[in-house]
Amino acid sequence: MIFVTGGAGFIGSNFVLDWLAQSDEPVLNYDKLTYAGNLNNLKSLQNDVRHVFVRGDICDQAGVLALLQQHKPRAIVHFAAESHVDRSILGPGEFIQTNINGTFSLLEAARTYWGALPDGEKAAFRFLHVSTDEVYGTLSPEDPPFSETTPYAPNSPYSASKAASDHLVRSYHHTYGLPTLTTNCSNNYGPYHFPEKLIPLVISNALGGKPLPIYGDGQQVRDWLYVGDHCAAIRRVLAQGRLGETYNVGGWNEMANLDVVHTLCDMLDTLRPKAAGSYRDQITYVKDRPGHDRRYAIDARKLERELGWKPAETFQSGIAKTVQWYLENQAWVLDVQSGAYKTWLETNYQNREA
Ligand code: NAD
Ligand code: DAU
Repeated sequence: MIFVTGGAGFIGSNFVLDWLAQSDEPVLNYDKLTYAGNLNNLKSLQNDVRHVFVRGDICDQAGVLALLQQHKPRAIVHFAAESHVDRSILGPGEFIQTNINGTFSLLEAARTYWGALPDGEKAAFRFLHVSTDEVYGTLSPEDPPFSETTPYAPNSPYSASKAASDHLVRSYHHTYGLPTLTTNCSNNYGPYHFPEKLIPLVISNALGGKPLPIYGDGQQVRDWLYVGDHCAAIRRVLAQGRLGETYNVGGWNEMANLDVVHTLCDMLDTLRPKAAGSYRDQITYVKDRPGHDRRYAIDARKLERELGWKPAETFQSGIAKTVQWYLENQAWVLDVQSGAYKTWLETNYQNREA
């Protein structure tokens, strides 16, 4: 089996669903269920014996080690993190705790477990660390996109904590020989995206008649990657990646935030027209994010050249699927907004333990 951390979050739950749709290899899904963890995302696996969910914190080294020794996974895929830049600005402590200390703790548990494996299993074991393009800092309009050799220059407490975790992973390969792989990915979007992030926030605020907040002038550029493409990239790196290497994952879809929001408004105007006017009328300019990175762009050619991966979705095709998913899953959004998913989740979890 594989051991997935953070598999109840946005990308992690997409990964687990995708994995089990393509393979019968079981998943041990280890997640603390912070505000961002939502077992509703995994409802379709409720009676699936291939999915074992354990609530826990990656900082609990002894607990993680016991699970590794009990379930004997052939790989760890590490998604668990605090992931929202704005939250890291308001309260960096949790980011240091989970992203740095938690990754350290997980690496230590992995090192102990892996060190005691028989030779064949030891050689086959993988620790795949899921990271972000934000570790590279910010680009000017004329700069080339981030490559795997771009120096690290993180600008927010979130990206600094992810950069630290990347360095720890790197050091565990170089010092102890732990068979690690690291992926640095651009902005994901798609189903089950928590509505604190730009795309799901804009869709849900638009439908709810609320303002669509644009930070600063809205000309900040991000590279957008459909989450299903990211999951496919992770599977490819896990299967074929060279040990100790890092791989950039991107969608070749650079867009200014304002253009993304205009696209969403125009799609909703067609699919769910308002009684009067356009969703664009709800756009509101607000104070910028402190230290806001101006531009991210990813050069994903190494992954294509070495492992043959490239994204299947364009922004147009991916965003069409995403908007459709949100229109069909308003109940999921309302549960998140009302906090009902937490109540359901607590009840569900207690029942499982009993
Ligand atoms: P998310 O915030 O949606 O989910 C994070 C998950 O981790 C949640 O289920 C949460 O409960 C769990 N978690 C948090 N702290 C934990 C802890 N201490 N122990 C165990 N579980 C814990 O995040 P996401 O957007 O799905 O991102 C997943 C990973 O991908 C993160 O490492 C993030 O840095 C990275 N990443 C995200 C993006 C993106 O666009 N969302 C892009 C590049 C990289
Ligand atoms: O680049 C990868 C990163 O992408 C991941 O590592 C992070 O985990 C993920 O959250 C994401 O970070 P961003 O800060 O780029 O994503 P967010 O959706 O928060 O913001 C996208 C852009 O939109 C950013 O320039 C800020 C802007 N924004 C965001 C919000 C929430 C707004 O203008 N208004 C908003 O209300």
